[in-house]
Amino acid sequence: MVLESSTVVAVDLFCGVGGLSLGLKQAGIKVVAGIDVDPKCRFPFESNIEGKFFEQDVRTVTKKQLLTLWGKNSIKVLAGCAPCQPFSPYRRGADTSAEEQWPLLGEFGRLVRETRPHVVTMENVPRIVSSRVFKEFVETLEGEGYEVSFRSCYAPDYGLPQHRRRLVLLASRIGRIDVPRGKVARDEYMTVRKAIGELPVIRHGTASSIDPLHKSRTLSDVNLARIKASAQGGTWADWPEELRAPCHTRQSGSTFRNVYARMSWDEPAPTITTMSYNFGTGRFGHPAQDRAISLREAAILQGFPPEYKFAGLDDKIEFVPLGRLIGNAVPPVLGRYVGDAVLSHVAGARSLSSRRSRQAGAAPALNNV
Ligand SMILES: C[S@@+](CC[C@H](N)C(=O)[O-])C[C@H]1O[C@@H](n2cnc3c(N)ncnc32)[C@H](O)[C@@H]1O
Repeated sequence: MVLESSTVVAVDLFCGVGGLSLGLKQAGIKVVAGIDVDPKCRFPFESNIEGKFFEQDVRTVTKKQLLTLWGKNSIKVLAGCAPCQPFSPYRRGADTSAEEQWPLLGEFGRLVRETRPHVVTMENVPRIVSSRVFKEFVETLEGEGYEVSFRSCYAPDYGLPQHRRRLVLLASRIGRIDVPRGKVARDEYMTVRKAIGELPVIRHGTASSIDPLHKSRTLSDVNLARIKASAQGGTWADWPEELRAPCHTRQSGSTFRNVYARMSWDEPAPTITTMSYNFGTGRFGHPAQDRAISLREAAILQGFPPEYKFAGLDDKIEFVPLGRLIGNAVPPVLGRYVGDAVLSHVAGARSLSSRRSRQAGAAPALNNV
């Protein structure tokens, strides 16, 4: 089997709702499977990615399982985004070393050692680079003969309407591969207006009749009064005294300017978290309507297309689990850049391999790498 006829095939560990997989798929990589412990990922993964979903702990994934999923003679890509909670900037200072997610990147490393895919990609929060577990992961890859590169990617540079930084790692045992730089100029950043400005108007506590995910959480009377008093891009300091909470009036409250606040229309959104449907947990107020952003708006600001399916027609739209899945997703645009880089890397290796083979008079054989 020669390289020219082999397909680039990916398996996504910790696949979630498929943000990373969607980007890889959009680039033209065949994503055959996603693995995640959360059963709520099955519907979005299978409906949008059309790969097979395994509700499974990554710690139980075997070499045989992955090799079967990739199939023979494919160019094998192992992708994954181990849970980032232990590294999240929102938990700075907390002792997270005992959390059970901590060793999961080590499990990713184990699967690389056991299966030796051609290309590996990993995404996480930038702070992970100074952790022991990340250094061990890179050492594992280098020890297995991979060329490794990683970069902190500022999401607006990649076309996301959101201020967010993510660490992207790419490794290949075919040759040098670099994490691509974003190509969007500052004056062309996607903004909140461009991303969600055309969505139907809804009231807090209601959903759109055409899209059940375009649903906004009910506000208490005081929070409704607060958002009415909030200016676009402003802070709670604009409110009358009687609307302020005790934490706002304490001196330390001055550091919490980005809660109970409206987004600005003409800038990228703040980082979308697992609770971005909640007015009080960030700058998650809609720029113009008196409500927090809807789940659909959160998903679009994370880079999902407006038609992405997160729940079945008969499923209840619940804020907590869906907010978690949306907030935890890898923005598909980053996955798309990664997928494009992987395909051009493979194409470059293919042409080098066939040139060498022609010179030597033999068939090209990158698959033997
Ligand atoms: C950061 S999210 C991944 C996001 C996903 N890559 C995307 O783009 O939508 C991490 C995921 O790891 C899953 N997870 C946590 N522990 C796991 C384990 N032991 N085995 C498999 N999945 C796990 C969580 O359910 C969560 O969906």
